[in-house]
Formats: sequence, structure tokens, C-alpha cells
Amino acid sequence: MQTPGYMRHVLRLILVMVLLGGMAVPEVYSAISRPTHLDKSKNPFGCAACHVQPGKLGSLAAATTYDVCFSCHGTISQSRRIVATADISSVLRKRYRHPIVDTAATHSPDEELPEKSASTRRHVTCQDCHRIHVSTPDNALEGVKGYSARRERNIKAVREYEVCYKCHSDSANLPYNMKNKRLEFDQSNMSFHPIEGPGRNRRVPSLIRQLNVSSTINCTDCHGNDDPYGPKGPHGSNQEYLLKNEYRRTEGSESAKTYELCYSCHERQSIIENQSFKKHKEHIIYYRIPCSACHVAHGTNRNANLIEFDTNFVKMIPAATYMRGIEGRPLCYLNCHVGGRDSKHDDAFYSGKRWP
Ligand code: HEC
Ligand code: HEC
Ligand code: HEC
Ligand code: HEC
Ligand code: HEC
Ligand code: HEC
Ligand code: HEC
Repeated sequence: MQTPGYMRHVLRLILVMVLLGGMAVPEVYSAISRPTHLDKSKNPFGCAACHVQPGKLGSLAAATTYDVCFSCHGTISQSRRIVATADISSVLRKRYRHPIVDTAATHSPDEELPEKSASTRRHVTCQDCHRIHVSTPDNALEGVKGYSARRERNIKAVREYEVCYKCHSDSANLPYNMKNKRLEFDQSNMSFHPIEGPGRNRRVPSLIRQLNVSSTINCTDCHGNDDPYGPKGPHGSNQEYLLKNEYRRTEGSESAKTYELCYSCHERQSIIENQSFKKHKEHIIYYRIPCSACHVAHGTNRNANLIEFDTNFVKMIPAATYMRGIEGRPLCYLNCHVGGRDSKHDDAFYSGKRWP
């Protein structure tokens, strides 16, 4: 997302004048910044597409906002008029989704996020991520408020993750099984995927050509519609955790499909040919161990290399230890339970064994 410049302020002023005057949207407005919903070629109904007319511009044409949206972003059966191609209503019926239909009623236009009261019900609705009078084809999140460590509440988001942090970081009502994403992606952590800024590791040989160690990525590079031809955005997916691609987290055979999520940015060949960790192939292919037994997907302050062992596989008292050794040849002190057997990694395990 871009920082809105001076022009945008001028344009916003024009919009305010339009709202106050109740006149038609001047051509200059749609010609320069082209907010989709005020563009006659995309929305021939103008304000009336969403608002009760006449004289009641603030009030929407349906009891819930998403119903207004579904009149164009829905299926033929629920719509009075379909003019949009993006059918969000069907995506929101997928197995994993933002709970918009169930929780939208809790939204208030004056709310301040992150939520400060632990007893407030969790919610999410279209307006939390979209400003409908302002969004453009280039930026669906244009003008939306965000939150991050450096920036206060209720400030316009500059980066996508700041929109997500409104509800997935310091919220007092964060569910017990959900982690604080701001802490997971904190740039002072031992390792993290590069959301807020470039990552720590200067040697990531598996990265696809389009990426390098200075790249940053977005939450929606991993979370979003599993149908690549369907509407974009983190609305719904048939993959668990609203992921775009498959990411198996149990024992089983490796294929391009089972870890497709990771292989969309990390070359499969590089990983299974041990370009970094010299025992990737042995673990992933022979012992059928999933990436998630060793790696977390967001970030961690426990270890380098996104290593945090999944306790379904790895146990050790007091704790499993990971020690970065010479490149690709780390030392682990742990007990790994896989294939119905225990494999203890300790001094005896390493003594006399030669790394490939
Ligand atoms: C595609 C749907 C849509 C169209 C078209 C639309 N609006 Fe809105 N409008 C909304 C929604 C949704 C809200 C509620 C925003 C919220 O809750 O954050 C809203 C809120 C408003 C408000 C209340 C103040 C505010 O900004 O929240 C005014 C006034 C308003 N719209 C005027 C207009 C005018 C004038 C037009 C035509 C130039 C227009 N709207 C076109 C959907 C639309
Ligand atoms: C009058 C029909 C109509 C209504 C009602 C409508 N939209 Fe749209 N919207 C469109 C069209 C047309 C596009 C262009 C892309 C497409 O065809 O799907 C679009 C695009 C979008 C985009 C992509 C970014 C952009 O601005 O181009 C978002 C986000 C969006 N709509 C959200 C909403 C939300 C939220 C609501 C309900 C408050 C809503 N829309 C109601 C017609 C509509
Ligand atoms: C207004 C609040 C809000 C915003 C903003 C928001 N979310 Fe969510 N999100 C929720 C709620 C509520 C849930 C349901 C689970 C919960 O309560 O955490 C959820 C669930 C999810 C899940 C699924 C978790 C699971 O276990 O199935 C993912 C992934 C997710 N959000 C990603 C994002 C991303 C990426 C963004 C930014 C583009 C974002 N969210 C912005 C409120 C929000
Ligand atoms: C590299 C891919 C990737 C990126 C980037 C990513 N996620 Fe995730 N996310 C995952 C995976 C995989 C899971 C499934 C649980 C797990 O393995 O940790 C997950 C789980 C989640 C969950 C549900 C579980 C929990 O811990 O709350 C939420 C919510 C979520 N992510 C939000 C976000 C947000 C917000 C961002 C951006 C700030 C983001 N994710 C960036 C891959 C990613
Ligand atoms: C958690 C945040 C979030 C919520 C809630 C949300 N959206 Fe989106 N939406 C996004 C993001 C992010 C994108 C942009 C994805 C991209 O461009 O890669 C997007 C894109 C869209 C698009 C454009 C799709 C395309 O393929 O061009 C439409 C239309 C849309 N959203 C409508 C809606 C409607 C309607 C609702 C409410 C029913 C809604 N969104 C709720 C985050 C959200
Ligand atoms: C959208 C692209 C993208 C996806 C998807 C992705 N990664 Fe990454 N990953 C990166 C980038 C970029 C870096 C380089 C960051 C750096 O230099 O530290 C990276 C770095 C890493 C690192 C090295 C981190 C360190 O500090 O040593 C590991 C481990 C890793 N990814 C594992 C995974 C796993 C496991 C998955 C699947 C859940 C995955 N990645 C999915 C982009 C991605
Ligand atoms: C048995 C534990 C283990 C498993 C399982 C595992 N890794 Fe790793 N991985 C490591 C270790 C250890 C390193 C760091 C090696 C070093 O640099 O010393 C690493 C490094 C990486 C890196 C960063 C360097 C590079 O190759 O670019 C990526 C990316 C990565 N792993 C992805 C994956 C993916 C994807 C999977 C699943 C298909 C996976 N790993 C499975 C232990 C594991």
C-alpha cells in the first residue's frame, strides 16, 4: 500500500463536498482516483446501490452491510443486481473463513481496535478491511485504519499487516489458542518470516527467483482463497487456517502438493536436495516428518531458522534444544517420536556419525 499523498486529501475534500451538497459525483473525482464504487462504469446505480434514497444517505439499503455487498458480490439467487465479478458470498461459505456473517452485528463505526475489553465479542466485517467510498482496483484496503507497534490505534494503514494487527495482535479479547502476531513477527525475534521488514537469515538458498533475503511478504501471500481463479483476499478457503495452499502438519509422504504452501516460495528441489539443512531429505522423505515438526510459519524468539519443535513429535525434559552449528549441520538434543518409534538425539546419537 502507498502513503496517500496530498492529492488524496484534496480528493477527500471534494467527496465531503459532494456528500454535503448531495450532488452527483463530479467527473474529476472518478477520473483521477477512481474509487470503484463511485465509478459509473462499474456501479451504474451510484449512491442508491447501497443507500436508502432519498435524503437518508447515511442509512444502508439493508439491515446488515454484507447484505448490501452481496447484492453485487453474491450469487444470482440472493441478488437484485449482479454487476460485480467477485462473488464474496460463496467464498464465505467455504469451510474456513472470516466469521463475517456470524459476527458483523458487533461492529460499530466508532470502535477503536485493537479491542481493549476482554469481554467484548470478537467480530469482523467488510468495513474493518475495506473503505467502500475510497477503495480502488489497485488497492482494496485503501484508506482503512491499521495498527502496529510503531503506530497508534486508528491511524490509516500503510502496510497490509497493520490491518490484520487490529484484531490479531494486542486485542484484549484474543482467543486463548491464538497467538499475538505482532510478537511473532517482531523484528527483534531470533527468526521470523519477513512481514514487517527483511528477515534475519542472509543465506536462504531455496528462495524462488522472484524473492531474495531482502524481500518482504504479506499475510495474504499465505492466507487467502484456495481457488487461484476465485476472488482474491482472506475471505474464505477450504484449507485449514484459511491458507491458500495445502500444508500438511501430520506424518505422511512428501509431494509437491502436500507442502505446496512452502513450495510456492521455497524451491522443492532445493529443500529435498539438502541445499541448506543436510538432513532435510532424510527427515522429510524417509521418515515422512512434516515441516511443522521443526518449523513454525510465523516467527519465534526461541531459535534461529524458524525452529520451534511441535510437541506432538518432539519431547525432551526439560526442553528440546536446537543449536546452530556449521551451516546446515546443527545439533539437536531431543527425543523425536515418529513412525511409532522414539529416536533420541543426544551425544551418543552424534558421536561417530558423519554429516553428509
Ligand atoms: C457500494 C456501496 C456504497 C456506495 C455506492 C455508497 N456508499 Fe456510502 N456507505 C456505504 C457503507 C458500507 C457505509 C458505512 C461505512 C461504515 O460503517 O464504516 C456508508 C456510509 C456513508 C455515510 C455515513 C458516513 C460515513 O462515511 O461513514 C455517508 C454520508 C455516505 N455513505 C454517503 C454516500 C454517498 C453520497 C454516496 C454516493 C456518492 C455513497 N455513500 C455511495 C456504502 C456505500
Ligand atoms: C452496485 C454493485 C456493488 C455493490 C453494492 C458493492 N460492490 Fe464492491 N465492487 C463492485 C464492482 C463492479 C467491483 C469491481 C470488481 C468486480 O467486478 O468484482 C467491485 C470491487 C470491490 C472491491 C475491490 C477493490 C475495488 O475498490 O475495486 C472491494 C474490496 C469491494 N468491491 C467491496 C465491497 C463491499 C465491502 C461492499 C458492501 C459495502 C460492496 N463492495 C458493494 C460492485 C459493487
Ligand atoms: C476486525 C477484526 C479482524 C481483522 C481486521 C482481521 N481479522 Fe482475521 N479473524 C478475525 C476473527 C474474529 C477471526 C476468527 C477467529 C478469532 O476470533 O481469532 C479471524 C480469523 C482469522 C484466521 C483463521 C484462523 C483459524 O484458526 O481458522 C486467519 C488466518 C486470519 N483471521 C487472518 C487475517 C489476516 C491475514 C488479516 C489481515 C488481512 C485479518 N485476519 C484481519 C478478525 C479479524
Ligand atoms: C509463510 C506463510 C504465512 C504467513 C506469511 C502468515 N501466516 Fe498465518 N499461518 C500460517 C500457517 C501455516 C498457519 C497454521 C498454523 C501453524 O502452522 O502455525 C497460520 C496460522 C494463522 C492463524 C491461526 C492460528 C494462530 O496462531 O492464531 C492466524 C490468525 C494467522 N495465521 C494470521 C496471520 C497474520 C495476521 C499474518 C500476517 C501478519 C500471517 N498469519 C502471516 C502461515 C502464514
Ligand atoms: C480480514 C480483512 C477482510 C475482510 C473482513 C474482508 N475483506 Fe475483502 N479483501 C481483503 C483483502 C486483503 C483483499 C485484497 C486481496 C488482494 O488484492 O490480493 C480483498 C479483496 C476484496 C475484493 C476484490 C477481489 C478480487 O478478486 O479482486 C472484494 C470484491 C472484496 N474484498 C469484498 C469484500 C466483502 C464484500 C467483504 C465483506 C463480506 C469483505 N471483502 C471482507 C480483506 C478483507
Ligand atoms: C510468500 C513467500 C513465502 C512462503 C509462502 C514461505 N516462505 Fe519461508 N521465507 C520466505 C522469505 C522471503 C524468506 C527469507 C527471510 C530471511 O532472509 O530470513 C524465508 C525464510 C524461511 C526460513 C529461514 C528463516 C531463518 O531465519 O533462517 C525458513 C525456515 C522458512 N522460510 C520456512 C518456510 C516454511 C516451512 C514455509 C511453509 C509453511 C514457508 N517458509 C513459506 C518466503 C516465504
Ligand atoms: C527435522 C527438522 C526439519 C524438518 C522436518 C524440516 N526442516 Fe527446514 N530446516 C531445518 C533446520 C535445522 C534448518 C537450518 C539448517 C541450517 O541452516 O543450519 C532448516 C532450514 C530451512 C530453510 C532455510 C534455508 C533454505 O533452505 O532456504 C527452509 C526454507 C526450510 N528449512 C524449509 C523447510 C520445509 C519447506 C520443510 C518441509 C517440506 C522443512 N524445512 C522441514 C530443520 C527441518
